[in-house]
Amino acid sequence: MQVLVTGGSGFVGREVVRQLLERGHRVRVLARGTRGGVEGVETVAGTILEPVGLRRACEGCDAVIHLVGIITELKEQTYEAVHVRGTQNLLSAATAAGVRRWIHMSAMGAGPESEARYHRSKWAAEGLVRGGGMAWTIFQPSIVYGAGDGFVNLFAGMSRWSPVLPLMGGGRMRFQPVAVEDVARCFVGALDRPETVGKVYEVGGRERFTLREILEEILKATGRRRWLMPVPWWLGELQARVLEWVFPRVLGKGSPLNRDQLRMLRRDTVGDEAPMIRDFGFEPVRFREGIRKYVPRSK
Ligand SMILES: NC(=O)c1ccc[n+]([C@@H]2O[C@H](COP(=O)([O-])OP(=O)(O)OC[C@H]3O[C@@H](n4cnc5c(N)ncnc54)[C@H](OP(=O)(O)O)[C@@H]3O)[C@@H](O)[C@H]2O)c1
Repeated sequence: MQVLVTGGSGFVGREVVRQLLERGHRVRVLARGTRGGVEGVETVAGTILEPVGLRRACEGCDAVIHLVGIITELKEQTYEAVHVRGTQNLLSAATAAGVRRWIHMSAMGAGPESEARYHRSKWAAEGLVRGGGMAWTIFQPSIVYGAGDGFVNLFAGMSRWSPVLPLMGGGRMRFQPVAVEDVARCFVGALDRPETVGKVYEVGGRERFTLREILEEILKATGRRRWLMPVPWWLGELQARVLEWVFPRVLGKGSPLNRDQLRMLRRDTVGDEAPMIRDFGFEPVRFREGIRKYVPRSK
């Protein structure tokens, strides 16, 4: 198949592209080009915020894998613009180009009642996809880890120089980490599984961990001992406010921590992985083994 992968230059996107090529698909990637092209595939530079050019990107494609998403807002890259308007722009372009299949990246916790704007915008995008007239499949992952991730690597990196690691809100919220290879398997596998059309899958590993347990596992993988320091929510909120102000103005970057993320952290991000395992037929990688493949061990 000829497949358009939006966000193909990102953390999840690169693995999706790798597996698509491995399975013999032809791949075109759409991204703004801020991180360079993706080796071995045709790359179209463009933003989903602008309808111009999207039609050309979709032309001749059998399927769209729509991965574009942001965790932090910066200038015109707001959740509403990227997740909702961007999805609508791309849906219109894909429909006009005659694309039939749409495989969509949402997030676990997406819902109309969520306190986090990120989740509400992901939910609104799902609504567009459901009503968009294509054969769709939607995936809602919990936290995704793997080489190049922004979460496990953040804490592993911090453990190199800091005697303490912060445990937001005491770290009791639970996650269901899933390996990026497993997430990509679902996206690529959906292309030749017509029975997945019209379905929403929660994507997670078999294990549930509190944030404290995740940090403990990361520390074990690095071979270091560090103090896990509970950070009260009010202090996290204050930090986020400061970083949200400083980062865009001083560094021209999105803040590494924002108040919307804190709202997401206040609740568990766990779901039911059984339908994913049943329909895609694989055993998810275990977190302990998965992170040991890429987290550097201290000498
Ligand atoms: N990582 C996780 O734990 C996790 C969990 C659940 C759901 N998700 C979802 O998975 C998706 C991918 O996440 P990721 O971790 O791979 O993020 P990422 O590494 O930041 O990748 C995001 C991709 O989107 C592209 N992009 C951003 N804005 C764009 C725009 N306006 N137009 C076109 N392309 C744009 C980026 O490329 P350029 O910067 O070059 O444009 C990049 O290729 C997102 O939708 C995210 O919400 C991730």
